[in-house]
Amino acid sequence: MAPSNILWHKSTVDKQHRSAKLGQKPSVIWLTGLSGSGKSTIANLLEKRLYEADHATYLLDGDNVRHGLCGDLGFNDKARVENIRRISEVSKLFVDAGLIALTAFISPFKADRNYCRSLLANGEFVEVFVDTPIEVCEKRDPKGLYQKARSGEIKHFTGIDSAYEAPQSPEIHLHYKDETAQQTTQRLYLALQEKGYVK
Ligand code: PPS
Repeated sequence: MAPSNILWHKSTVDKQHRSAKLGQKPSVIWLTGLSGSGKSTIANLLEKRLYEADHATYLLDGDNVRHGLCGDLGFNDKARVENIRRISEVSKLFVDAGLIALTAFISPFKADRNYCRSLLANGEFVEVFVDTPIEVCEKRDPKGLYQKARSGEIKHFTGIDSAYEAPQSPEIHLHYKDETAQQTTQRLYLALQEKGYVK
């Protein structure tokens, strides 16, 4: 909600101009899933594919954003809500710039993912559920965080003592368990192509 006495200033060059110049349909490809589910790996591989296909993109990643824009936030529910609110607003700016924004956040709460959807026009928000069972994430444990969470060294860890609300009807449901990250990314790329988001 904007403070009173602040009015919207419409720019002459708008989203339509910018996206036409870039020759693409702007969107937010929103990857959600547990820690260790593969969101960052897949988002990185996808961005490389899109770059090679001459798309203009920007990848927002949970760990990276928490070094700057969201460096003041922790992991209790309130902090996660604020984290996703900020990312949603930034994603909206990227869409306004004509870009394809890729996001890789746990984004555990349905209401917060829907908040981002509500900021965008119809069809601009693509929810991608990176559906990796927690047993697999915990076995991978690339950063040793599950082990720390199990021993109580980390509190509010998603899937252990903090909730994850799985998407019920994501635009794309990616099961990522038995194949390589490259194979899963290829499936995601093809699904986006089929839906007309990418070349
Ligand atoms: S959230 O829930 O969307 O606000 O989280 P996000 O910004 O994506 O940050 C997730 C990464 O932070 C690390 N980390 C934790 N994750 C979950 N719970 C707790 N308590 C926690 N503490 C640190 C972890 O490396 C997450 O990265 P990914 O890539 O998801 O494994």
